[in-house]
Amino acid sequence: MVYSETVQSERLYSRVAEAYEDVFERAILAEGRLTTLVRRHMDGKRVLDLACGNGRWLRRFRPGHYTGLDLNERMLAQARRQYPASEFVRGDMTNLPFDDATFDGVVSVFGAMGHVPAEGQRRMIREAQRVMKADGIAIFTNGNVWSPFNVPLLLRGHRVRIEGMPVRVHSSSPGSFERALESAGFEVLELSSYDYSYLPIMPLKFGGCLVGRDYRAIYAGIMDVLEHCCYIPSLRWFGKQLVAICRKRGQDHANGKQR
Ligand SMILES: C[S@@+](CC[C@H](N)C(=O)[O-])C[C@H]1O[C@@H](n2cnc3c(N)ncnc32)[C@H](O)[C@@H]1O
Repeated sequence: MVYSETVQSERLYSRVAEAYEDVFERAILAEGRLTTLVRRHMDGKRVLDLACGNGRWLRRFRPGHYTGLDLNERMLAQARRQYPASEFVRGDMTNLPFDDATFDGVVSVFGAMGHVPAEGQRRMIREAQRVMKADGIAIFTNGNVWSPFNVPLLLRGHRVRIEGMPVRVHSSSPGSFERALESAGFEVLELSSYDYSYLPIMPLKFGGCLVGRDYRAIYAGIMDVLEHCCYIPSLRWFGKQLVAICRKRGQDHANGKQR
């Protein structure tokens, strides 16, 4: 299925592929807790990284076997160049070229599913569920409409410009995200928000230069502290992104039986 959002995404990532991690640096530096979650649930497993981009998650966790899938050739070219020993496949996340029950785990992070509308997200989640083994674990992230930091995005009708390119991105509320996952046959084990990176990065870049320190380390340290906001009830849903850890229901669940 080709959505207009997919065409926009292809244009955007074809343009930024070589500079991807610089363009998205602010949000990438706010992924401390997400990285911990990915390691905890995916290390040692046969993992599908859905919409893997340039494969950068391979620096952060140690799957037993890794397959990265992405639609964008230039992002995949970066991935293959950096990780020549790993497997990368070109494909559409809403129609996966894998057999049923192939993977122990699926990760689809950094809001990749936001590049398709709600109907496409449901297809993508169903496809992820199909290619997973029973009781496998999936980690999905998507933009959080409850985050006050996403209000400007909502006011602009879900449209943003990234590097001058118009992009439409689709976010979820915690409730709609959970319902989409549950209705595809997942049990949601944990749902929270992350990315409190509203702290302006520019003063840090400037300050870091002044004191001769790499601002990235300072920034990541501040993000690590801010991430604890997700444990404070009143700030729980402030994070720009939602992250769900879910388990593919086994046959008993699929048949509607209690375990
Ligand atoms: C924000 S990047 C995330 C990449 C990676 N997951 C990460 O954490 O850096 C979004 C990625 O989704 C990919 N993408 C967008 N639509 C897709 C689709 N329909 N099927 C597969 N990949 C898609 C883009 O090519 C891009 O690489």
